[in-house]
Amino acid sequence: MNSSVRRHGTSLSRQLGLTERLLASPATKRLIAAVDDGLDRLEAELVTSLRSTDALVDSTSRYLLEAGGKRVRPMLLFLTAQLGDGTTTEVIDAAQGIEITHLGSLYHDDVMDESDRRRGVPSAHRVWGNSVAILAGDLLFSKASQLMSALGDRASALQSETFERLVLGQLHETVGPAEGEDREQHYIQVLADKTGSLIAAAARAGVIFSNAPREFETPVLEYGERIGIAFQLADDVLDLSADPAVTGKVPGTDLRAGVDTLPTIRLRRLADAGDADAAALVARIDDADADDAAFADTVAVLRDHEVTRSALADARRWSDEAVRALDPLPAGAVKDALVRFAGTIVDRSS
Ligand code: IPE
Ligand code: IPE
Ligand code: MG
Ligand code: MG
Repeated sequence: MNSSVRRHGTSLSRQLGLTERLLASPATKRLIAAVDDGLDRLEAELVTSLRSTDALVDSTSRYLLEAGGKRVRPMLLFLTAQLGDGTTTEVIDAAQGIEITHLGSLYHDDVMDESDRRRGVPSAHRVWGNSVAILAGDLLFSKASQLMSALGDRASALQSETFERLVLGQLHETVGPAEGEDREQHYIQVLADKTGSLIAAAARAGVIFSNAPREFETPVLEYGERIGIAFQLADDVLDLSADPAVTGKVPGTDLRAGVDTLPTIRLRRLADAGDADAAALVARIDDADADDAAFADTVAVLRDHEVTRSALADARRWSDEAVRALDPLPAGAVKDALVRFAGTIVDRSS
């Protein structure tokens, strides 16, 4: 398929930073070509799947799909599918189900976080209002369920169990830790549920629907869960440091929405332990009346604070843990690419 179908320059070689692609082994070159071909086919299928005869449904469903996105989950799914028969039709459909689930979660997340921009465009609720954005997300979830149920019982179970965890993660983030609950443990569980669950499902679906050996399921599942935590930790740090032109999101959205992340959890702990500088920064973060300039300055101070460096170090540790989960996999191009993928998940700019 012509690569012009891939609208957003998403490719495995780019994700893996394989500028030295010419030096890649023949097996790695074949792997990259297979994954990139899968991404092209996926893009065409997604546009078709999300078409609707209802004009409002048609425009709202495809709005964020066509605005951009990294396609990280399908990329991982196509990678693990190379452990089996590769990007079969079932593998492409599973990738559609996973990516559409992710897409729906973005519509809802932007309502919850009151985010103004997503993928470089105004978020859906800014265009159509909260109700239409929520319903557009619901329609995407139903489309994902239809695609997965057509693949059979295992796909249906994977979809419904993953979706439950995604929603529980968002719910537990919203309500915060219970009285006496460890804040960091609560936070990591939220990341595992809201983000790790879907990334792990992508990794597992690649094995299942390519008919790869069943014993590969657990290693890639554990790998996916851990890179999912690393991915979300990095996202939370990116929220403070991001260049909006690159991320397509508004920096500082978590702080504005009052969502605590690892940097602010650690900052609050320092403040509670008597660190006056940390307490002053907490007061600035919690100042709902701060104007845009003061707020931007607060974001910058937090970005350069030790707590943010330590959060990124944690992301790297989770990524290393993910790589360890791959031990049972045979050595080869797929394993090498998964190791590399785990690194790029943390050291990314968008
Ligand atoms: C955004 O996910 C939501 C998170 C789980 C952090 P991505 O960073 O994968 O978003 P897109 O698909 O590239 O826009
Ligand atoms: C959302 O995490 C994860 C989802 C399940 C959608 P964030 O709230 O950090 O996502 P962004 O930063 O808006 O993409
Ligand atoms: Mg959110
Ligand atoms: Mg975020």
